[in-house]
Amino acid sequence: MIDGHFIVIEGIDGSGTTTQCSILADRLTEKGLPVHTTREPSDGPVGVLIRQVLTGRVVVSGRQGARPFHWATMATLFAADRLDHLEAEVIPNLTDGVTVICDRYDHSSVAYQTVSGGGGEDISSWVRELNRHAKRPDLTLVLDVDPKRAASRRETRSGSPELYEVDEMQVELTNFYRKIDEHFPNDTIRHIDANRDIAAVATAIWAEVMALRGESI
Ligand code: TYD
Repeated sequence: MIDGHFIVIEGIDGSGTTTQCSILADRLTEKGLPVHTTREPSDGPVGVLIRQVLTGRVVVSGRQGARPFHWATMATLFAADRLDHLEAEVIPNLTDGVTVICDRYDHSSVAYQTVSGGGGEDISSWVRELNRHAKRPDLTLVLDVDPKRAASRRETRSGSPELYEVDEMQVELTNFYRKIDEHFPNDTIRHIDANRDIAAVATAIWAEVMALRGESI
């Protein structure tokens, strides 16, 4: 059997990755293709722990009070979750010929953990190394969006802001994502202007996925 395509959608918080993963999955399903949508942090055991750190449910305790995990601890947790996610969920689906659409992947690790670690080249290369055994996607779509627009989309969500949902950090992440290709020279990465409405962004994504499949729109 021919392996399914592995497609990743990336971007800052509020860029619309979850919405676009779901629209893409519906469109491929309408075409009669088997599709599996998933996300990172995953719903596996390490992913569940990470989500508890992101929401402040799990903290490091100390004399100065509770604080979030160190950025390097987060980098190793995200890498462990990814390898478990690949083994338990992504690769079995791909092998069955299913197209896997993943909301975030190791581009998020390189972007978020590098920025939260201070932004140095030594940090991004270490994060890349941690993820050396992570299977490469067939196509990565990066949703480029104005950080102010993403911030106002985040404000409409319920719940408290998560660990990285800080406006200044999201501005740094926006700039990092614009140049993310430099960190993944062998990946197929396409940037999508995500400042447009949901339908227009979905159409641009569809064109890239059809090109990957060698089909005309
Ligand atoms: P997100 O994908 O926005 O999920 P939800 O919409 O369910 O809150 O949240 C995950 C957060 O984790 C997001 O801020 C990006 C961050 N992240 C990393 O820092 N590194 C990673 O490797 C991944 C996959 C995510």
